[in-house]
Order: sequence, then structure tokens, then C-alpha cells
Amino acid sequence: MPFSTIQRQIIDEQGQAVSFGPIGPGRVAVVTGAASGIGLAAAQVLARQGMKLALCDINLELLERVGKEIVDDVFAGDSSSVILMKVDVSKFEEMVAFREKVLDQFGEVNVLMLNAAVFVGGGTFADNLPVWRKMIDVNLFGVINGTQAFVPFLQNQENDSVVIVTGSKQGITGPPGNAAYNVSKAAVKMLTEQLACELREAHSNCSAHLFVPGWVHTGAGGPESAAGEKPAGAWTAKETVAYMLEKLEKGDFYIVCPDNETSEDMDKLRMAWGASDLLLNRPALSRWHPEYKRKFEEYMREGLNPAAPGRSRSRGRGGDGYLTPSGERADSAYFGGAEVEIRDGGRRTPAE
Ligand SMILES: NC(=O)c1ccc[n+]([C@@H]2O[C@H](COP(=O)([O-])OP(=O)(O)OC[C@H]3O[C@@H](n4cnc5c(N)ncnc54)[C@H](O)[C@@H]3O)[C@@H](O)[C@H]2O)c1
Repeated sequence: MPFSTIQRQIIDEQGQAVSFGPIGPGRVAVVTGAASGIGLAAAQVLARQGMKLALCDINLELLERVGKEIVDDVFAGDSSSVILMKVDVSKFEEMVAFREKVLDQFGEVNVLMLNAAVFVGGGTFADNLPVWRKMIDVNLFGVINGTQAFVPFLQNQENDSVVIVTGSKQGITGPPGNAAYNVSKAAVKMLTEQLACELREAHSNCSAHLFVPGWVHTGAGGPESAAGEKPAGAWTAKETVAYMLEKLEKGDFYIVCPDNETSEDMDKLRMAWGASDLLLNRPALSRWHPEYKRKFEEYMREGLNPAAPGRSRSRGRGGDGYLTPSGERADSAYFGGAEVEIRDGGRRTPAE
């Protein structure tokens, strides 16, 4: 869907400007995992844009607390524009009950943000089957359930809508150490790509978007990041949501957020390197392979340095990352920016 529709306005019979796109006054936003972090920030920002809210979370106590704050701060104590419901996104019947409540009360959905997820660390093996089950149930089936429960209705309603699925860079570049989370987020990426393509082919007025936060100071990173001050390298949830809305307005499908530690150029280079493992038949996750560690560091350093030797023409920000099949970097694999210290070329990498 062309996203100019987000800001599209029509004039009603009284000559008043009426919002027509999915985001704007009177429209309806559904957010899963809305009791904290990015989901809560999205709810707060969308409420301030005049949208009605249907918020769900597995933590009802927290959801009711933050929901009341939104009702008081944004809706002057009138709770008729806000639905708060306890939903476990991994249970399809609970998602269906949520949809029924939303449609009964608001009649349509214009923003469906499938955001709820859990983060539990752990490798591929050991006795961590319950971790796998939980992460796939919540992170992947939460999105599948949300899609199955809501999207057929979005497709049949008159007004435009967007489905925003929260992914992760870990589902793209796959840093070792969190196998189940990475698998769940890689699957979510694929699912959202498939959904977007199907909606496009169907000429639907519903579009899907993959929202990939950077490092965001929320509860997801465990006690370290949940407590105390925001680490300098992280973005706030509100910054991340503002970036998401800016890109959504442009109609972007892939919304990959930077943070204070990782620039857009660094992300592009890392993703290009990761994709090139397959093209160049390198070892799996070669970025973390001892024999490739230095090459990767050099690649990043050169890619981020516009004055690097061997670079024949100026390369602005935002080029497409690409490695030629012979393994040489094409010009367009470079992105502008200052030389940076590469800190994560080691064996294990924290979340990215
Ligand atoms: N914080 C980051 O740095 C970061 C980075 C990349 C991606 N993400 C993604 O952003 C999204 C939001 O994460 P966050 O950082 O705001 O985390 P968060 O823990 O603050 O928020 C997640 C919310 O989901 C809820 N939830 C968990 N299980 C649920 C279930 N079964 N049903 C319903 N709700 C459930 C939690 O109660 C919580 O309120 C997640 O999809 C996460 O994977 C976060």
C-alpha cells in the first residue's frame, strides 16, 4: 500500500478535514505486549495521535496500571476509547476473543501491532526444550495467531490498515548464543514477508511491515537493562517508535532501527556480510568464525570509511550492501560514515 495514505486527508460534508489513512484521529490501534517497553510507547504515541486503543498483555496488573495513566493523561479520564485485556498471544482462542471485543466496541482495526515477545537466552542444545517451546509459542505463534485472528477482517473492512510485526536484528544476522530467540525472530521475518507479498498481490488496502528495533532500553534485556538508567548505547522506546512511524509513513516494509551504538550503515554492512555467507559458501555465521573475524573487522572498517583504499567513487549513505560472487566488494557495498571501532567481532555477541 502506498503509505502516503497514512497522512491522507479527505474533506467531509461539513468541510472538515477527516483522517483517511490508518494512523490518525478516530482510527483504532491494536497492540500486543502493550504493558511495557516498545508496545507501551507505541500505545502512548498513537493515543496522542487521537487513536482509539485496544491493548493486550499477559501481565494484566501492569497493563491496567499503564492503561489508566494513558486514559488519564490523554483521554481526560474517559476510558471509552481504550480496551485493556489480558491475552496470552500464544493461545489462538484468546486472540479471537480479543478480536471480538475490539470489533464489537470499535468496529474496525487500522493498526495491528504484533509486538509481544519473550527473550530467554540459551544455545541450541542442553535441557532447554521448555525454552524453545515458550519462545516459539509466544514469539512466533503469537504473530501467527494475531495474523490469523485479525487480518481476514482487516482485508474486508472499508478503511486502510497496517500490520506491524516486531522482529529483531537477531533474526537477520543471527548472533550466536540465543538460538531459540533468533529462530523465532527469523521465522517472524519470513512470515511478515510472505504476508506483505500476499496482501500486495491481492491489492488489499491492508499492508504488512517488519519493524526491527535496535537496542532499546526496556524490560526485554533482563534486569540489567530493565533497571536504572538507560545505557548510553540504547535508544528509548519512544525514539524507536518515532523512527518506526517516520519510516511507515514512507511506506517502507523493512524498518530497521539504529541506536546510539549501531548506525544504519553498520546494520547494512552486517546484513550484507551475513547474506553473503550463503553466496560465497563461507562457514555458517562466518562473522563469528575465528578465521573470518579479522576479515569482518576490516570489511566493517573499510565499509564505514569513505576514504578507504580501493574505493573509486564517493559512496553516500544508504547504498545497497553487496558482495560480488567472487568475494570482492562492489562499490555499492560501502556506506558513508566515520571510521568506527568494531567491538563485536568476537565469538559471542550480545543482542543486536
Ligand atoms: N528491547 C530491545 O532492545 C529489542 C530489540 C529488538 C527487538 N525487540 C522486540 O521488541 C518487542 C517488544 O520488546 P520490549 O523490549 O518492549 O520488551 P518488554 O518485555 O518490555 O515488552 C514485552 C511485553 O510483552 C508481554 N508479553 C510477554 N509474553 C506475552 C504473552 N504470551 N502474551 C501477551 N503478552 C506477552 C510482556 O508482559 C511485556 O509487557 C519484542 O518483540 C522484542 O523481541 C526488542
